[in-house]
Amino acid sequence: MRTVAVVLAAGSGVRFGAALPKQLLPLAGRALLEHSVAAFDQAPGVDATLVVMAPGHADHAREVLALGGYRKVAGIIEGGKTRPESTRRAIAALGPAECKVLFHDAARPLLDQATIAGCVRALDTYDAVGVAVPTSDTIVVVEDGRMTGMPHRDSLRRCQTPQGFRLSVIRKAHELALADPAFADLTATDDCGVILRYLPDVPVAVVPGSERNIKITYPGDLSIAEVLLSAGDSGTSDSGTSDSGTSDSGTSDSGTSDSGTSDGGTSDGGTGAADQ
Ligand code: CTP
Ligand code: MG
Repeated sequence: MRTVAVVLAAGSGVRFGAALPKQLLPLAGRALLEHSVAAFDQAPGVDATLVVMAPGHADHAREVLALGGYRKVAGIIEGGKTRPESTRRAIAALGPAECKVLFHDAARPLLDQATIAGCVRALDTYDAVGVAVPTSDTIVVVEDGRMTGMPHRDSLRRCQTPQGFRLSVIRKAHELALADPAFADLTATDDCGVILRYLPDVPVAVVPGSERNIKITYPGDLSIAEVLLSAGDSGTSDSGTSDSGTSDSGTSDSGTSDSGTSDGGTSDGGTGAADQ
């Protein structure tokens, strides 16, 4: 079955605070956005890439991607005001034919091949898949400034992207979400969250992610990404990929490695795949 990667790049980067959306800023000699597009270009399991760009910046992206010579870019469309809206526009642009679709945040430029391959493979068996890493920190629930719960750490994961789906399944979930007036208030709901909420009988597989797959949210994250890229990807282990507790045991990515940085260094703190 055909697999399409959707690179979500329609945010405006408010927290980053630059003059341009962060996905157009340079990282290691090319635009941030290009790193994800290049990763999918190189992925044997991916047939085409659709880029969802911030309104008003599609021409800029078109220029940058044409110069880069990426073979699989099948289209560049404008996204919406929220991430779910951008996802919905991509779903509409993909048309009726069934396929596997991987939604990836352009803000995560250090996507590795093993993670992509793991997602594509998991979609042979599952209709929905998310990428996640274990948390080494203890996570607590805080309400009104007080700790009210401490979920067992072994059951917790930090979500990354890609998130992958059978197109018909994620389309159905978004249709149900759109029909729910409460959905608009769920600002931090990503696509796996839409499945969990609106199609709860659909199992969502978990593919091990990588500690390198950080999200660029604040300017400091870009400096960390530069360091990770210049350190290359050999020689060290990655705690994110050795998670025997994931539900997709067939997707180990021993081929990946990690320069050993911990997420504590990023200012995102691992808040999830798709904060708005
Ligand atoms: N995104 C999108 N459409 C939106 C909002 C976000 O495609 N309306 C994409 C972003 O471009 C990014 C990913 O979703 O690749 C994750 O979003 P985030 O890191 O929050 O980026 P921004 O929304 O741009 O940043 P901020 O929230 O600080 O404005
Ligand atoms: Mg955002």
